[in-house]
Amino acid sequence: MKFEYNPAPNKAVFGENSALRLKEEVIALGGMRVMIACSKGMLARISHIISSLDNMCVAIFDGVEPHCPEHVAMAALALYTEKKADCIVAIGGGSTIGIGKAITLRRDAKFIVISTTPCGSESTPIYGMLIGNHKKTGRDNKVIARTTIYDPVLTTSLNAANTGATGMNSLAHCVEALYSKVKNPLSDMFAVQGVKALISGLKGSIKNPDDLTARAKVLYGGMLSGYCVNLAGIAIHHKLCHVLGGYHGIPHGQSNSVILPYAIAYNEMAAPEAMKLITATMGTLSASGGVYEFAREINVPKSLKELGMREEDLDTVARETVATTPFNPKPVDFKSVREMLQQAYEGNKPVAF
Ligand SMILES: [Fe+2]
Repeated sequence: MKFEYNPAPNKAVFGENSALRLKEEVIALGGMRVMIACSKGMLARISHIISSLDNMCVAIFDGVEPHCPEHVAMAALALYTEKKADCIVAIGGGSTIGIGKAITLRRDAKFIVISTTPCGSESTPIYGMLIGNHKKTGRDNKVIARTTIYDPVLTTSLNAANTGATGMNSLAHCVEALYSKVKNPLSDMFAVQGVKALISGLKGSIKNPDDLTARAKVLYGGMLSGYCVNLAGIAIHHKLCHVLGGYHGIPHGQSNSVILPYAIAYNEMAAPEAMKLITATMGTLSASGGVYEFAREINVPKSLKELGMREEDLDTVARETVATTPFNPKPVDFKSVREMLQQAYEGNKPVAF
């Protein structure tokens, strides 16, 4: 056994109503002037959090858009600079956290996240911005949130479709950590616990949106999924989802929902030990078949066709995916990726190859 363990330098505060600890956490980091970033929908639900900051909140940016377009991130940065803020608090999911990362990368900001979806982005050094139709990504440990607050109470308004789709993104982070070429025993541990929490939590949250125990499991799985990406990186599944998002505008959770069973099937022969861990954790006969059935059980999108993708664009997507795909156990070549995309386009039960 040989590995390095370099944990994310972030603090996690987990529990019901923990969002009300925000002021305490800002002060602990030495922050004095807070800018909140969130979506317009979220703003309507967080007045109690904003008022808990008393006069420390100097700006609110509520213009978040999916995939963090460059003009949105730059508008947020301009407001942060104009108001002389020293702390950025992102309240939301991946796109909102993307704003916090864009600011932290360019300013010496204290970066706090209140995570309301199980995306895990708060713990990863990967930042991204949509420039034109290309999702440009980079890595810098500076963009890992210093403190993340996980409050399941804030997640109960996430509808079934978004709960399922964001949960599939999180499940994919854990699954890819199990077959990544740079995985280690600790990422395996986080990934197995993450899969377990997500499978049970997603079923419970979709059945009863107010079930705080189930919501907490999903958020916990999301937290672990961020640790997985941090430790083991991403492989073919996530590369493909970024291509689908950047070039074809498919929301990240939706592409994750469709692609995951097929990405697992792609690697099924090349990573047998990972597949054993997935089937043992899920209690299914095959890893790809188990995730395929689970996706149908929680009613997330089933095929690229259903997402409005054109069959004639699959060649382009395959070419872009092949360009750079690190850490994948099975070699990534155009013919195999194109075959996987055809399966995902049609949405039938995945066939391992
Ligand atoms: Fe993701």
